[in-house]
Amino acid sequence: MANNNFSCHSLFLLLSTFLLLTIILFYFSSFNQKDFTDIFTLSTSFNHEQETSQITPRVNIPPSNSTKNIKKKKSNLARIEADLVRARAAIREAIRTRKYSSDKNGSFIPRGSIYRNAYAFHQSHVEMLKRFKIWAYTEGELPIAHVGPTKHIYAIEGHFIDEMESGLSPFMARHPDEAHAFFVPISVTYIVEYVYRPITDYHRDRLVRIFNDYLRVVADRYPYWNRSAGADHFMVSCHDWAPQISHDNPEIYKNFIRVLCNANTSEGFNPIRDVPLPEFNLPPGYLTPTRIRKRTAQGASVFAFFAGGAHGDVRKLLFQHWKDKDDEIQVHEYLPKGQDYMKTMRRSKFCLCPSGFEVASPRLVEAIYVGCVPVIISDHYALPFSDVLDWSQFSIQIPVDKILEIKTILKGVSDDKYLELQKNVVQVQRHFVLNRPAKPFDALHMVIHSVWLKRLNVRMPI
Ligand SMILES: *[C@@H]1O[C@H](CO)[C@@H](O)[C@H](O)[C@H]1NC(C)=O
Ligand SMILES: *[C@@H]1O[C@H](CO)[C@@H](O)[C@H](O)[C@H]1NC(C)=O
Ligand SMILES: *[C@@H]1O[C@H](CO)[C@@H](O)[C@H](O)[C@H]1NC(C)=O
Ligand SMILES: *[C@@H]1O[C@H](CO)[C@@H](O)[C@H](O)[C@H]1NC(C)=O
Repeated sequence: MANNNFSCHSLFLLLSTFLLLTIILFYFSSFNQKDFTDIFTLSTSFNHEQETSQITPRVNIPPSNSTKNIKKKKSNLARIEADLVRARAAIREAIRTRKYSSDKNGSFIPRGSIYRNAYAFHQSHVEMLKRFKIWAYTEGELPIAHVGPTKHIYAIEGHFIDEMESGLSPFMARHPDEAHAFFVPISVTYIVEYVYRPITDYHRDRLVRIFNDYLRVVADRYPYWNRSAGADHFMVSCHDWAPQISHDNPEIYKNFIRVLCNANTSEGFNPIRDVPLPEFNLPPGYLTPTRIRKRTAQGASVFAFFAGGAHGDVRKLLFQHWKDKDDEIQVHEYLPKGQDYMKTMRRSKFCLCPSGFEVASPRLVEAIYVGCVPVIISDHYALPFSDVLDWSQFSIQIPVDKILEIKTILKGVSDDKYLELQKNVVQVQRHFVLNRPAKPFDALHMVIHSVWLKRLNVRMPI
């Protein structure tokens, strides 16, 4: 009897909660489609946004007509969408009240100018940990699906795939019906390595075909792709070719979230939809170096430093103007004999990070690890985690056509400003640390958080 009473009571509670959520959902529906990432930039103008009722949807998903299981699927989706409404509301509330309403004791709390909005980020991270679930499709065969490289410059690709597939990640959904986002676990690097071996041609059609086929299979087999037109689906790749998967069929990939190292905005990388991925150059068997430097600005004996190959136009230009020409702006193609690369970085005030063959460079992360202020020399580069981090607080950005002025620009940084930049570099280190399994606020969590933000940008029809 008591049992019966209880279930009646909880049913009533459940129903009224649901009703309330539906109302909330309805109320916020104009907001939901706003580019949510924006709120990290402008916390002060936040209230104005609510006044303008007309907000252009970023992704407006038309209802689908599939009939199978439609009721059950709909109620699952309704629950997920209602839950996301609560997450957005909690983030907005944190921004409005400028308070940290953490339900975790003793965990890290982001603070300071390195964040676009520390309150929004903190709350968003809390909400993500509470609920974000990802389904990794099981289709596809080794070695091009479900594994990827875990060493050298594309290492983050394999580590991300492996993290998702290891069975240890708290973000993995047990069933696709409970997932907020869908991961396409294909490794572009391994496609290039295995399908193109030996490399005799550089035609991207085989790569494109593998991706298209994969997406066609999962769209046929499951309702999820069609339901969102791909807007809650994502891939992760660090390979230079990865952006090309969508070139032949831009329509299919219109909403698909591409998480890419090669985040060149003049080659179709769209920061509203896509996610930049940091590049790591990992020796075999290594993650982040254990000796992360908490060094201070003192003790830097080299003013500015770069050593690396003449890859790509930016470096050609850099070499043309600076290679072995200046005592303070030390630019080398080959390090002078006896000079150690990491040691020199560690002793440098500024570490030059010019784009190579592609926009991304592992030097960014290397500079951050040794506490050296990165000087990013590139054009059209969407910087990693720039949805959350304010790179101007811990790096110097120099457009390619100002390469001649490097010395003037860096000499113009006052001592106080430098000290602040350097302190911030140390503060930002934790977000670039690679852990397996991933830990809160580390690099893999930051990637997942970026995907989470993209998911908050999408409102699905119920
Ligand atoms: C869905 O159904 C509507 C009305 O029955 C129809 O006009 C529309 O073409 C259908 N859409 C698809 C994708 O089948
Ligand atoms: C808070 O701390 C206590 C004691 O350390 C711990 O048992 C509890 O699980 C923590 N709560 C959360 C939400 O982390
Ligand atoms: C998704 O849409 C495609 C193309 O319209 C169709 O071929 C496929 O059967 C649909 N998938 C499902 C599960 O209905
Ligand atoms: C970025 O894309 C543009 C346009 O395709 C290209 O000219 C430029 O070289 C790319 N940047 C790098 C560093 O590859």
